[in-house]
Amino acid sequence: MAAFGLARDAKPDPHLHRVNFTIELGRKGFVDMVRVQTIEEDSWQAVYSDRQQEEATREIENGGLVFFPRLAFTLSEAEKRFLVPDAVGQKVKNVSFDIRNGTLRGSALEGADAAALRAMLDRYARQALALVRSLLPHYAPTLEQARTSYRPVEAAGRTTSWRKDDTRLHVDAFPSSPNQGQRLLRVFSNINPAGKDRVWNIGEPFEAVAQRFLPSIAASSPGYARVLRALGITKSLRTEYDHIMLQMHDRMKADKNYQATAASAQLRMPPGSTWIVYTDSVSHAALSGQFMMEQTFLLRPAAMLDPSVSPLRILERMVGRALA
Ligand code: SIN
Ligand code: FE
Repeated sequence: MAAFGLARDAKPDPHLHRVNFTIELGRKGFVDMVRVQTIEEDSWQAVYSDRQQEEATREIENGGLVFFPRLAFTLSEAEKRFLVPDAVGQKVKNVSFDIRNGTLRGSALEGADAAALRAMLDRYARQALALVRSLLPHYAPTLEQARTSYRPVEAAGRTTSWRKDDTRLHVDAFPSSPNQGQRLLRVFSNINPAGKDRVWNIGEPFEAVAQRFLPSIAASSPGYARVLRALGITKSLRTEYDHIMLQMHDRMKADKNYQATAASAQLRMPPGSTWIVYTDSVSHAALSGQFMMEQTFLLRPAAMLDPSVSPLRILERMVGRALA
């Protein structure tokens, strides 16, 4: 099978080199490699100025994180009983909730306990939506709210296979849920009750990851994509874009040399903090931490302030044709 050739103007970035440092978020807000915009707000219903909205939108579109050191997702006394790893079922990493149909998945709980856990995820879903609507109003008209998750399992050592090992640098792409070029915008909140940070590594920019891995990715087969869809293995058609993103995700994780040598910076997100990031373009690895909430949103690149920086448009420029 043919590999994806790079368009002629695509050159490797000569400025990339190995960098490793730790950013104690909340103490130091901005470092060259990982851009972090800190917002000192403690309310999910805060009102933001036009300038804050524009800056935050540009920051995340350009591969940065918006970090709220004091924006906490608060559990009621009764909900604190869910701060145990076995709130999830066996062999599952997360409890997930879909506000579009009200379903809770992955929980080991039943009856009233399950309903209370569901209410907790529902509240997070609503607060995350309120935050994104007020901070990133440009997206509000077309933003789609997808899954909400609760992650009570320690991130270090929770893995079952290299492909599922999120302690390795990767960009997000999911085998059964093609997004056909839509962005994956995520809100995370560390709710650890014992003072434990969520520790991430952030890797090199998306262009650099794509330059490195795209040339070795074989072209996708439209027939195979139709079979996956017909068998229900994918929820919608796996486009060429989805194929490339999945391959990038897998190749990054499988490449031990890349994991050991790629430029990265460590971020420590303390309990009581919240952050927003595009995880389809920002290379990340969750090294450790326990008890976190997460909300995923989907957004068409056309709805961005600058669609040209979306992974879809970047990859399309590199291969010289439409991918979704
Ligand atoms: C991931 O998206 O790779 C996991 C993030 C986390 O669990 O902190
Ligand atoms: Fe991820």
